[in-house]
Parts: sequence; C-alpha cells; structure tokens
Amino acid sequence: MVAVFVGATSGIGLSTLKQFAKYSNAPKVYVVGRSKQSATPLLHELEVLNPKGIFIFVETEISLIKNVDAVCEEIKTSEQMLDLVFLSPGFLSVEGRKDKSPEYLRVNSTSSGQAASKDLSHEQPNR
Ligand SMILES: NC(=O)c1ccc[n+]([C@@H]2O[C@H](COP(=O)([O-])OP(=O)(O)OC[C@H]3O[C@@H](n4cnc5c(N)ncnc54)[C@H](OP(=O)(O)O)[C@@H]3O)[C@@H](O)[C@H]2O)c1
Repeated sequence: MVAVFVGATSGIGLSTLKQFAKYSNAPKVYVVGRSKQSATPLLHELEVLNPKGIFIFVETEISLIKNVDAVCEEIKTSEQMLDLVFLSPGFLSVEGRKDKSPEYLRVNSTSSGQAASKDLSHEQPNR
C-alpha cells in the first residue's frame, strides 16, 4: 500500500500514521510535514513499528498551493497510484469568513475543521 499523510507529526494524524504503520503490510508512506529534523525520531519509530515499511519525509509548508503542487509532482514521479491520503491540518477562525489569502483561497467551515478551496470568481494570482 502507498499512503500520503499530511499533518502526521502530532494529534490525529500522528496516531493514525502509527496505527497504519503497525498494521499494514509493507507500506510505503510519504509523510508531508514542516520539519524533517523534528520528524526524524518519528521516522525511526515507524521503521521499528514496521521494518518492512518505507517511510519518506517530504518537508514543506502546505498552506501555499504552489508547495502542494510541488509535493504532488514529486510524489507523482515515483507513484502510479495512491491507496490512502490522510490530511489533517486546518485552522478555525473565530472571526468568520472575511479573509482571502494572497492566493485567493477562501476558508470554508466544516463540522470537523476547515478546508480551503479556490474562489474561482476571481482572477488567478501568480504562483
Ligand atoms: N483534536 C481534536 O479533538 C479535533 C476535534 C475536531 C476537529 N479537529 C481538527 O482536526 C485537525 C487535526 O487536529 P489535531 O488535533 O490532530 O491537530 P494538531 O495536533 O495540531 O496537528 C496538526 C498537524 O498538522 C501539521 N500542520 C499544520 N499546519 C501545517 C502546514 N501549514 N504545513 C504542513 N503541516 C502542517 C502539524 O505539523 P507541525 O508538526 O509542523 O506543526 C501537525 O502534524 C485540525 O484541523 C483540527 O481543527 C481536531
């Protein structure tokens, strides 16, 4: 199985990643996060949990769409398909939906957090 985890250095993502590593058969996992250095102990732990697994850390900041695109391109160079994509990062604004990012992202509330989506009614910005 090939999986991508984004936001797996703490919280829900971390717990899910550890269980996935423990119980899946020879998984290949891309762990996307902001600091490879701080994730190094986690990678070692995953390798102990599943010695047949391959765990690859991809360091990036995924709040910028250009970084998301770059990660996708990087993974696509090695993989034909993914079996699992697990995404947990998000934030909750207490000020409502009033802002748009420089990339014209609009934040939409959901019951389990928030997801960003492109506002297509505006001109696309430079990347
Ligand atoms: N925990 C709950 O009870 C609960 C309940 C309802 C909803 N939620 C929602 O579920 C989601 C996950 O919650 P959680 O408690 O697991 O959160 P968390 O412990 O704060 O974990 C967030 C993860 O996302 C990563 N991350 C955050 N921003 C990032 C960015 N810009 N680029 C790359 N990685 C980034 C963090 O990595 P770093 O190590 O780099 O910080 C961390 O691994 C959130 O959206 C939260 O609002 C949680």
